[in-house]
Amino acid sequence: MIRIEPSPPIQFRGSVPGDKSISHRALILSALAEGETVISGLLRSADTEATWRCLAALGGRLSELVDGTVRVSGSAGHLLAPASSLYAANSGTTARLLLGVLAGGQVSARLEGDRSLSERPMDRVVTPLRAAGARIEELGTPGRLPLAVRPARLVGGRHTVPVASAQVKSALLLSGLMAEGRTAVALPAATRDHTERMLARFGVEVEREVLAGGETVALVGPRTLRSPAALAVPGDPSTAAFLWAAAAITGGQATVEGVCLNQRRIGFLGLLREMGVAVSWQVEREELEPVGSVTVAGRPSRAVDVPPEAVADMIDELPLLACVMAVAPGQSRVSGAGELRVKESDRIAAMAEGLCQLGVACEATEDGWRIQGGPRVHGGEIDAHGDHRVGMALAVLALAGEEASELAGGPIWQVSYPSFLSQLVAAGGRAQEI
Ligand code: S3P
Repeated sequence: MIRIEPSPPIQFRGSVPGDKSISHRALILSALAEGETVISGLLRSADTEATWRCLAALGGRLSELVDGTVRVSGSAGHLLAPASSLYAANSGTTARLLLGVLAGGQVSARLEGDRSLSERPMDRVVTPLRAAGARIEELGTPGRLPLAVRPARLVGGRHTVPVASAQVKSALLLSGLMAEGRTAVALPAATRDHTERMLARFGVEVEREVLAGGETVALVGPRTLRSPAALAVPGDPSTAAFLWAAAAITGGQATVEGVCLNQRRIGFLGLLREMGVAVSWQVEREELEPVGSVTVAGRPSRAVDVPPEAVADMIDELPLLACVMAVAPGQSRVSGAGELRVKESDRIAAMAEGLCQLGVACEATEDGWRIQGGPRVHGGEIDAHGDHRVGMALAVLALAGEEASELAGGPIWQVSYPSFLSQLVAAGGRAQEI
């Protein structure tokens, strides 16, 4: 349980842990490549540890060096059959990307997850992988984990994916490395392109076309990845967003340095600006990804509407955005975000419940929320529903409460942001584990 007290305006300057999406990909591509890769800035959290453990079980050799970097000796695509089930824990990225790797991996493996992950849809990956020739067996509820993957020869093809999912796109690109011929993936909207960028660093160029109606990516297989020797993971904008939101909610200021400024990840900052929050950012270097500093200061002065086409670029920040909306005068709306119902929890329902418990007028719709913002929120008893982003978002909003709040559940921030509580407290947030 954490107790959150009414707090003074947040003041933060510093960096945040490595990007979660990029960290998963850095581990996976390094483990599949020919040669050794040293990764700096890797996120060490429950989600990335799940990927690490699964790769180790598939024969990957991963170790932490004394300077905190991580060394991965690649297998040049030759996986070992794991001795027991692969456990993806709470991590959708681990499960979906590994399904892409296993599909043509020539070993038999069984993949499982925790209760939350076992309720999340895997058919969005399994159906196109089967079309490419993968042999995947559902061991429980159709379309869900646990799944068993058997050795199979894959062929290329064109996949039209109905959801704007970077995980599905990435899984299919990874399977395409082992398939004979051209694998193309069409999505209804552009999504984070970390896999494409990183594949280029491993010697595989991905063709990419971004159109008004979505994006198409393609590669020709089979291909072996060549290690770039070193990879640097930038700070996670989805993690920094908790500090930026804390600044906006309490009327403080937060500068985060060394953060990934990939366009597909910073829609949240544009929305804060539309709400009248002062936001400035600067790209300082372009390596694997654009990297720079962002400062967010002051409270929101007006409500905002998030239309469906804006959703993909801020999908993980929407629970947090709902919290900023709660203190922005007027009625804000989010629509076209039905994907939130199949994240680590049903985030539409969980956030509507949490906001109501903090005295905010919030109505859940099928694919978003209607939120009536005001200057104050109450304190209350809030529940993370086992979801790291829901728990951290509500804790941040509770900083602006008129009374203390209590957040139930364990330290769920270990999933993606292990230093959440310590960084929040260092920035002036009054929060503690009790
Ligand atoms: C991710 C993609 C998104 C995001 C998730 C991480 C990734 O999921 O919500 O936190 O690393 O590719 P979807 O692909 O399901 O949209």
